[in-house]
Amino acid sequence: MRQTPAMRRIWLLLVALALLLTACAGDAPLDTLEPEGPAARTIDNLLNGVLVPAAIVFVFVEGGILWLAWRYRAGRRRTEGDEDDEDDIPAQTHGNLILEIAWTAVPALMLGGVAVFTVGAIFDLADEPEDAMQVEVIGQQWWWEFRYDTDDDGEVDIVTANEMVVPAGTPIDLDITSRDVIHSFWIPALNGKLDAVPGRHHDLTIEADEPGIYWGQCTEFCGLSHANMRMRTVALSPEEFDEWVDNQLEPAVAPETAAQQSGQDFFVAQCGTCHQINGVNDVEEADLVAGSAPNLTHLMSRSTFAGSIFRLYEEADDEDLDYLALPDVGTLDRAQLEAWLRDPPGLKPMDPDDRRGMPNFNLSEDQIDQLVDYLSTLR
Ligand code: CUA
Repeated sequence: MRQTPAMRRIWLLLVALALLLTACAGDAPLDTLEPEGPAARTIDNLLNGVLVPAAIVFVFVEGGILWLAWRYRAGRRRTEGDEDDEDDIPAQTHGNLILEIAWTAVPALMLGGVAVFTVGAIFDLADEPEDAMQVEVIGQQWWWEFRYDTDDDGEVDIVTANEMVVPAGTPIDLDITSRDVIHSFWIPALNGKLDAVPGRHHDLTIEADEPGIYWGQCTEFCGLSHANMRMRTVALSPEEFDEWVDNQLEPAVAPETAAQQSGQDFFVAQCGTCHQINGVNDVEEADLVAGSAPNLTHLMSRSTFAGSIFRLYEEADDEDLDYLALPDVGTLDRAQLEAWLRDPPGLKPMDPDDRRGMPNFNLSEDQIDQLVDYLSTLR
């Protein structure tokens, strides 16, 4: 079928409409324009202050260009009594001093104004509040590790993955680094993004106004599963946060049934080289940091796994999720966890041959059952 100009115009219109609709999600969790903390609000205020004048300038300049192009288009009568001469040049103007000074000075003044507010915002964002809580953030292919030193004795006492739990209304000073390649940490509702670079430590302060779950995404291309490297910041009330800390400081729950015990034995033999469960397969000197894979001591206290791309509980995406109660009232998404153990690289592109990501161990259905029986007790 041949394309007529009318059809082409309809296609063009459809493409433009589709583009417009991509900007219309009502509940986009990575919306940069809905700040939920002081740092994000500073950025948002600056953006609005620049965007509004920029939009006015844009409409004025683009409108002027379009109007001039239409007003003086070829074929239009340009001068009296000279209707059809295509080569005729319109009357030329040059050297209007006042106009030239005006269109140099006005943009310079506007940019000067933008600079004043930008520099102010940069200094605001660089401020590190003294009462901030510290969390170490480590980017890994392809998940995030969070380490806490809750008693400030210089030793890490909580290690968790993918979901960083913090108290709402408290500034959190993040120390961001990476274990392998460059990643970028970004929770758009709480602050801008900052690169996680191996061998370097970058400071970023976040604070959530209210308890809630704030989604994030790695924003520096870091290999195969870059797009599957998400994270969440879970802000709890200060009392709930203390409760969370108390639970995290506990060693792993001991197996109660024979099936759970078999699962634990199998875990130590098969998974224990990379994953750690505190009190089960700690490496020497009680180092909680296994390093290359998430610490699973309190796996079930999280709502998602594998770079926060799969949910552990059916309720993981509920808006009014009772985070601490998940292990008691949540419905374990057992099929999802089993599917993951059956073939991790099949569900999330990874490169285990090059020691990046979790391999497929070709586990039997019995082994998968035992493992899930055990893992699902780790609250
Ligand atoms: Cu990590 Cu992209």
